[in-house]
Amino acid sequence: MSSLIIRPKGPLYGSVRISGSKNAALPILAATLLSEKPCTIFDVPPLSDTANMLGILRKLGSSIRHTGKDSFAITNDNIKKPEAEYEDTGRLRASFLIAGPLLAKYQKCRIALPGGCKIGSRPIDLHLKGFSSLGAAVSINHGIVELCAPRLRGASIYLDFPSVGATENIMMAATLADGITVIENAAVEPEITDLANFLNRMGACVRGAGTDTVKITGVPFLNGTVHTIIPDRIEAGTFMVAAAISGGRIKLENVVPEHLKPLSAKMREMGISVLESDTSILTEAAEELFPTDIKTLPFPGFPTDMQSQLCALMSVSHGTSIITETVFENRFMHVEELKRMGADITIEGRAAIVKGKPHLMGTKVTATDLRAGAALVLAGLCAEGETHIGDAEHIFRGYANFEEKLRNLGADIEKAPI
Ligand code: EPZ
Repeated sequence: MSSLIIRPKGPLYGSVRISGSKNAALPILAATLLSEKPCTIFDVPPLSDTANMLGILRKLGSSIRHTGKDSFAITNDNIKKPEAEYEDTGRLRASFLIAGPLLAKYQKCRIALPGGCKIGSRPIDLHLKGFSSLGAAVSINHGIVELCAPRLRGASIYLDFPSVGATENIMMAATLADGITVIENAAVEPEITDLANFLNRMGACVRGAGTDTVKITGVPFLNGTVHTIIPDRIEAGTFMVAAAISGGRIKLENVVPEHLKPLSAKMREMGISVLESDTSILTEAAEELFPTDIKTLPFPGFPTDMQSQLCALMSVSHGTSIITETVFENRFMHVEELKRMGADITIEGRAAIVKGKPHLMGTKVTATDLRAGAALVLAGLCAEGETHIGDAEHIFRGYANFEEKLRNLGADIEKAPI
């Protein structure tokens, strides 16, 4: 494992281009399995998560060419066995997104259960309920999910929870099913819409993505296509917090302001200036940082993936803030690490009470998961003294060229072995 070392160097100033969305790229890379024709995908963020997904596709038999900066040509005309082993799925929870495409294209698949992760148990019951409704036989033996269906048939599926992954998996499987599938209580995150746009470019018939009712009319086959991944709204939000917590001003290029509305609204409540244009956002730190309260919810509510970053910002605000995490059962692991830096945070069930302090103190901390690690980097930008973040691999899963982008904005940050 490697570490990140951050030394205080004052406010961050400048502009940064936001990379493609990790959470849009992962399902779209999986969706290429629905066709044997070539797909070219632009703005695939260079992350360990996307590298792991490309590795899984290669093991399945995909031919993948790196055609330029962050772009890949993928042809799936030689898929040997629709199977993925635990050594691959265990590294990338989102690997289970290959299930829907493989089931639809090859009528069967065997995929090792991805297992949980630190932020929660991450069940897949809603994915399996959807596949079963489409007519698949579902079995789980020795940690392997086996799906089989000579023909998938359209169905009406109500999701007990608007699960992002389940909506994506069912949507992909339904594109080649006989008849019409309606997903109700579907997730409405922007990444769902980006996937639907990609599928429709391949010749699918997906309507209503971005609303809670998605209708998919099955087609006989899908073609290859070309697609550019939408910008990563969570990377963008993380840099907005970097501007605010360091006392600086950062212009984000290549963003969709609409995707950041819940965060922008909360940051404005804290006194931070957020100015939007069509494809950019200028964030400037507040004279006085006010507290606020957030409750994480499925989109368009406040995103759970920005909760830990805002917690770091609240830790140095002038007052008490309350965070309620409703999406995952264990997403406060950054709290103990922030408290090691002097933050005053108390957890009561699903709520964290954050009493702002004038400053944090640099020390040795550990990244427990992707977004918790990002929160510790943000805290290090305003802490007094050096912050040493261990297990930094968690951070590289979801932030492309993170330390380089921060250095270009004036941060003193370097990667160090162990
Ligand atoms: C996606 O995960 C994202 N990952 C997560 O981002 C994000 O936090 C999450 O959506 C919520 O927005 C990707 O897109 C690759 P869910 P996913 O299914 O699809 C329960 C990051 O940091 N649930 O919407 O796994 C589940 O337990 C990552 O970039 C079931 O009960 O999220 C959780 O409480 C972290 N049964 C809730 O739904 C199921 O079958 C949300 O899960 C599936 C989910």
